[in-house]
This record gives sequence, structure tokens and C-alpha cells, in this order.
Amino acid sequence: MPTHLVIEGGVPLGGEVAVSAAKNAALPALAAALLTAEPVTLDNVPLLADVTTIRALLARLGAELADESDGSTRVRVASVASPEAPYELVSTMRASVLVLGPLVARAGVARVALPGGCAIGPRPVDQHLKGLQKLGADITITNGYVEARASRLKGARITTDLVTVTGTENLMMAAALAEGTTVLENAAREPEVGDLARLLIAMGARIEGAGTERIEIEGVPELSGARHRIIPDRIEAGTLLVAGAITGGDVTVVGVSPRDLTATLAKLEECGAGITVEGDRVRCQGPARPQPADVITSPFPGFPTDMQAQIMALLGLADGVSKITETIFENRFMHVAELCRMGARIETDGSTAVVRGVPSYQGAQVMATDLRASASLVLAGLAARGTTEVARVYHLDRGYERLETKLQRLGARITRVA
Ligand code: EPZ
Repeated sequence: MPTHLVIEGGVPLGGEVAVSAAKNAALPALAAALLTAEPVTLDNVPLLADVTTIRALLARLGAELADESDGSTRVRVASVASPEAPYELVSTMRASVLVLGPLVARAGVARVALPGGCAIGPRPVDQHLKGLQKLGADITITNGYVEARASRLKGARITTDLVTVTGTENLMMAAALAEGTTVLENAAREPEVGDLARLLIAMGARIEGAGTERIEIEGVPELSGARHRIIPDRIEAGTLLVAGAITGGDVTVVGVSPRDLTATLAKLEECGAGITVEGDRVRCQGPARPQPADVITSPFPGFPTDMQAQIMALLGLADGVSKITETIFENRFMHVAELCRMGARIETDGSTAVVRGVPSYQGAQVMATDLRASASLVLAGLAARGTTEVARVYHLDRGYERLETKLQRLGARITRVA
């Protein structure tokens, strides 16, 4: 069996653990380096498979990347060598689409393979393309690639049909170098959008309103380099807090931004966990048995879809029935079948899952299908009686930096078996 995690469940986790920087902030920040010929230095970029992927893509486009002795990552795109993001890279990571906006803005042309579907749904990029057209780009789609061309982008008023995180980020980066003013309405308010705006502003962009549903960007002729520290990963923090709750333990995550976690913390309290916030530290004291709670995912500041699989693992052990509604992605219940193999009683109907809590899970051999599903299986394994083997941990490594090491530090009996 290829690399998998082996977990001996039933150990209440305890202690402190520091969270890594946010994957979903690091990816757009790395893409932003395309917008300038000067070096961009990023502190505490996490060591993740998805970061490795976008680094390879940036190198293909002409970036020089260096890991500095102080732990920072230096990216310099002195000139764009190629405007093409090839299928073999884009197909492994949908977030590769984040190079589209910067490439058109910097080089006047971009050829990006259309991201196929992925495990959690088709995930089109139509909002990215409509927004770039509004900014004056000519968009054509041929042979599975989108080609965007523009001698110079021009500011526009853009209202996306739905809230899209990377769509907002792509359009904000493109607008930073457009001529004139761009207003993004219905913009995503995720903390990662705000973090990207802070980097762009440090590079000389003129942006107001990032973090709200209305972002105004005054284009500038060119951007300079900058140094920027990536924000902590709110989803990793939430995952580690659920690990404390699901094992009936007492876990403190350190180095987090609690205001980025409010919906998750409120839901954990509703499940009976004791939550204490002190500065950048959040403590979770797990209940003996979780209480049921209903969950509806929605864009920030609502309950994050990236925490849905994890909270489902917790609610699967609750003393009652919970209803989970996934409103963001069409097919983000891939973890349900595997949780049921561990004894969970969950029935899905379209975008809703009804979770009838059981007293305990049994350890089992399970298979990860996507990033957050793999996290929920690890969490269930930590609580289960007996041994759980989670296969296909490459899904987990896309978005968690050495999760098993962090959990071991909290007392978990978890090992990675190559
Ligand atoms: C970002 O993906 C995150 N990824 C996802 O995290 C996260 O789940 C998602 O936002 C929602 O919060 C990164 O930031 C790299 P969307 P993104 O565009 O931007 C539809 C993880 O686990 N849509 O906000 O790709 C789309 O199909 C990953 O870390 C369109 O229809 O998500 C989805 O149903 C998974 N057309 C919904 O909108 C578009 O042009 C939200 O997508 C764009 C999106």
C-alpha cells in the first residue's frame, strides 16, 4: 500500500501547536510576483504540495525562485519567458488559474489550460473570464486552453454573478495594472483576499475595500517588489481545534487570527466545546460527547466550506441528529462514504447531509478523495476505537504541512508509513 497514515484512536489530544501560513494566501501571493520585474520576498510560505506546484508553474513562466537563508521565499520575474500555463500543471491544481490575471496585465497575453473538474465539482472559471473581458481582454477558448490578450487593460465596473475567491483575486491583480479605476462588486471577503491586497498595496497598487464586498482599484503603470508575511491558515487552525474537540482533549492552537475563525469557533461552542481566545491563541476543550448542530456553509464570514468535512466528522459522534448543507460546491460529500465505513450514520440528498450521531467510530482502512475529506478521515481516526489507515495522503499534503507531526506533538498515535 503506498504512503498512508496509521492512526491508533482513542487518545484525548492535549497541548499547544503552532499553525502554518495559509495555503490559500500563499498561492495568490506567489502569483502576484508576476506583476513586477522586481523581486517579491514572502515570509513563512508553507511547505505544501500545492506551493511546489505553483512554484514549478512560475518557473515555467520565467520566474527565478530562491529559498533564502532567513526562511523567506524570493520570487523574481525579470521578464515573462512564456505566457503559457500547461495542462499538466493546471490539471493538478485548479488554483493555477491565479496566473491568468497577472500574466495578461504584465505581458498582455496568457494561455492557461482550463482547469478540469476536480473531486469536489466542475468548478468553472467563467467569472474570471467575464471579468477580464470587462477589463478589455480578448478571450478565446481553443483546445482546452483559454487565451487572453490585451495591449493594456482598462478599468471597469465588475459585478460577479457569485462570490468567487480566486476570481476576486485574479481580477484584483489584473486591475492593479489596468488604466483607470476598477470596482469589483460582490467581491469575496475571505481573509486571504485581504492578505493579497496588503501585498499588492506594498507593491504600489492602489486598492481600497479589500475584505468587503466592494473593492476599488486605481490602476498604476507598474508595480515594484515588496516583502510580505503570509497570514496564518485559518482552516488548518480549525482542523486542529476539531482534533481537540473530537478526542475530548484540550488543544491550544498558537499564531492564529481568531477573527478569521469566528464561524468555526461559534459552531464548536454550539457542539459543546469550551473555546477560549487570548490574543493569537485559541484553546478548545472537547466535550465528553459533542452536541448536534446544524451547519450551512457560505462565503466568509459564514461557516467555511473548507471546514465542512471536518465538522461532519465531529457531528458524526454527536448525541443527536445534525443537518449539514453545502452551498458552495456541488460534490463536497466525498468523505461521507468513508466516514460511514467507520460506523458513521450519514445520509446525503443533493447538497444536504443528515448526520445521526453514533457513540463511537470503529477504526478502518479508508481512502482520501480530496484535501479536506482526508482531514476529516484523520480526525475520525483520532477518535475511533482501534486502528485507522488513511490511504492517498497526497491529498492531505496538498494543504497541510506535516499534519501528522503536529498531531503527534499533541499526543496522537499517528505515523506516516511510506
Ligand atoms: C477557493 O477556491 C479556495 N482555494 C478553496 O479552497 C475554497 O474551498 C473556495 O475558495 C471557497 O471558499 C483557493 O483559494 C486556492 P470559488 P476557488 O471560486 O476560488 C463556482 C481548499 O480546500 N465558480 O470561490 O476555486 C465554483 O464552482 C480549497 O483549500 C463558478 O461557477 O472557489 C464554486 O462552486 C478547495 N465560476 C463556487 O463558485 C467561477 O468563475 C465558489 O468557488 C468561479 C467559481
